[in-house]
Amino acid sequence: MPADLDVSEAVEALRAGGVVAFPTETVYGLGADAGDEAALRRIFAAKGRPAWHPLIVHFADVASLDEWARDVPDVARSLAAALWPGPLTLVLRRTERVSRAATAGLETVGLRVPAHPLALELLSAFGGALAAPSANRFGGLSPTTAAAVRAELGPEVPVLDGGPCAVGVESTIVDVSDGVPTILRPGGVPREVIERIVGHDVPSRTGGSVRSPGQLPSHYAPRARVVLASPDDFGGVVEALLAEGVAVGVLCSESAPERTDVSVERLPNDPAGRARRLFEALRRLDASSDVIVAALPYDDGLDWAVRDRLTRAAAPRDAMGAAPPPRAGC
Ligand code: TXA
Ligand code: MG
Repeated sequence: MPADLDVSEAVEALRAGGVVAFPTETVYGLGADAGDEAALRRIFAAKGRPAWHPLIVHFADVASLDEWARDVPDVARSLAAALWPGPLTLVLRRTERVSRAATAGLETVGLRVPAHPLALELLSAFGGALAAPSANRFGGLSPTTAAAVRAELGPEVPVLDGGPCAVGVESTIVDVSDGVPTILRPGGVPREVIERIVGHDVPSRTGGSVRSPGQLPSHYAPRARVVLASPDDFGGVVEALLAEGVAVGVLCSESAPERTDVSVERLPNDPAGRARRLFEALRRLDASSDVIVAALPYDDGLDWAVRDRLTRAAAPRDAMGAAPPPRAGC
């Protein structure tokens, strides 16, 4: 089977119970029919992802929210009306149409209407919902190009190529299942935007449950070790590593001085540009470096998500999280 598909071939493969990687505005997803348990098992197998991690369910039409979620509170409807299609995932109580294999046995489901035109075309033509985690090996860097999907998952996984992703970091996840919004993962919608829509401060709970791999201390990690440095000690950290004789990669801003003794990837000076380029820059440095030294941005606006991903990429690798005790129906 050719690795690259068009939309009708992708629909055919999905209807036959296969997996297809497709572009969204955040990152590429690895999709399968959200109502087909055997197809969903193929996602977990392709990613090497533990079955106790729930998937995000994607659909095309904001108006069909109630097909996938029940007891939807007003605050969820306001967020959906304002931000869908877009980089927002709402955690809500699931309806029977969502397979428990997609939610890892949870009674809640992460739902999202993505904004990428090809994702919307695929979802409309498919006519149902697609469960899709980011199309990378579990714990690795999320892919923001079709080539990155192939590098992560190999040539057998068919890919719908929609070019580079415009947002570049995953969706912001907001749990609204009990009517009180809580941010579970910073992402493509800044916290300030969510707070403006709901009209008050929104707390975050981003360090807790191992049910959200995006909340694990170590996640989004390249092969190379990642070391975080402040602008003041950046040069010193790089010199110390070079003295150890390791291959150093540097993730810095556009305005940082030229260097020839290390691999350099520059992130744009604006937050949207930083988010868009982050994973691809880490992926490129990973190909040439043993250690990546990265400067941390502040944590406002989209930089909150960039800071979160870099912090998790730098976390100790034994902090991937252990499986929680088995639950009925998992
Ligand atoms: O931007 C995105 O969200 C991308 C694109 C493909 O849509 N998807 C993505 O999926 O990042 P994934 O599987 O890599 O991350 C989904 C996150 C995980 O941390 C998962 O645990 C959390 O969503 N999640 C899903 N359902 C949940 C639920 N019911 N309760 C809490 N967290 C949930
Ligand atoms: Mg992911």
